[in-house]
Amino acid sequence: MNLPTQVRLVEVGPRDGLQNEKQQIGIADKVRLVDDLGAAGLRCIEVGSFVSPKWVPQMAGSAEVFAAIQRLPGVSYSALTPNLKGLEAALQAGVGEVAVFAAASESFSQRNINCSISESLQRFVPLVETATATGVRVRGYVSCVLGCPYEGEIAPQQVATVARELDAMGCYEVSLGDTIGTGTAGATRHLFDVVGRQVPRERLAGHFHDTYGQALANVYAGLLEGIAVFDASVAGLGGCPYAKGATGNVATEDVLYLLDGLGIVTGVDAERLIAAGERICAVLGRENGSRVARARRA
Ligand code: HMG
Ligand code: MG
Repeated sequence: MNLPTQVRLVEVGPRDGLQNEKQQIGIADKVRLVDDLGAAGLRCIEVGSFVSPKWVPQMAGSAEVFAAIQRLPGVSYSALTPNLKGLEAALQAGVGEVAVFAAASESFSQRNINCSISESLQRFVPLVETATATGVRVRGYVSCVLGCPYEGEIAPQQVATVARELDAMGCYEVSLGDTIGTGTAGATRHLFDVVGRQVPRERLAGHFHDTYGQALANVYAGLLEGIAVFDASVAGLGGCPYAKGATGNVATEDVLYLLDGLGIVTGVDAERLIAAGERICAVLGRENGSRVARARRA
């Protein structure tokens, strides 16, 4: 078994997690969450989104969150930017890294960002150019890589085509998103095998939602394919506003437990991470989605 010896965890809870919450969450609580995650040793934290507030109201305060977080050295605090308008707002907020998001499914692309896949890719080219020219690196996402809520099955080659374009336009990494969490371990291995022929595996990441309870198995499948970057959400927060019924990402605590058990280095402190998750769950008044956190509490 040739697993990576180190894994980079990309914490997406403050963005992918909170974006789906209907209740008002105060800026101070969002800031505290980001600061807690940094203190727990996470080195990549997705803080928010510069998207239309009509589409995702919860992310409207992202500039205020960026203004108030304590920026630790060596930590990348990033934000989603769907277009140049979003990038401009992100740059104004002093964001050091942004992410563009495309889909492998036409229907999801329309529902999520109101344009076709090819229009979105065209839109991202000047965004990546401008960001890179100002020293801001850009991550790329592909959604619906293992299934679409509107179209069902998605061909891995379709994912590979979109991933290759994001890579070619200058994204430093492309994260493959199982938006609705229907993927299984065999399909995940096959996906990384197919996409890995078009984009080097060291520039690929896995982003698994846990709707069908398969996310941890899919992380492991990714590890077996040599993938060493995984997105996760503290306390398993979240869902997707444009994928009804989809639950949050795999809980960061649970991925960390898996990786710790395999002796894979992440630099993340489990106890501090669990405490961060418990705190935000108390604020939201919701049950902690991390099995590890629940077991520890018991
Ligand atoms: P549109 O309506 O086609 O945009 O939306 P438009 O350019 O026609 O502009 C319409 C209005 O939006 C205008 O305002 C613009 O100024 C404004 P008005 O004149 O009507 O007052 N606008 C903006 N405002 C703030 N920030 C902006 C911005 N752009 C335009 N950046 C748009 C197109 C892309 C803007 C919209 O569809 C949108 O914001 N979508 C974001 C959806 C989203 O955030 N989804 C969740 C994140 S993706 C995800 O969760 C998947 C992922 O986790 C991976 C996985 O799990 O698969 C990443
Ligand atoms: Mg997601």
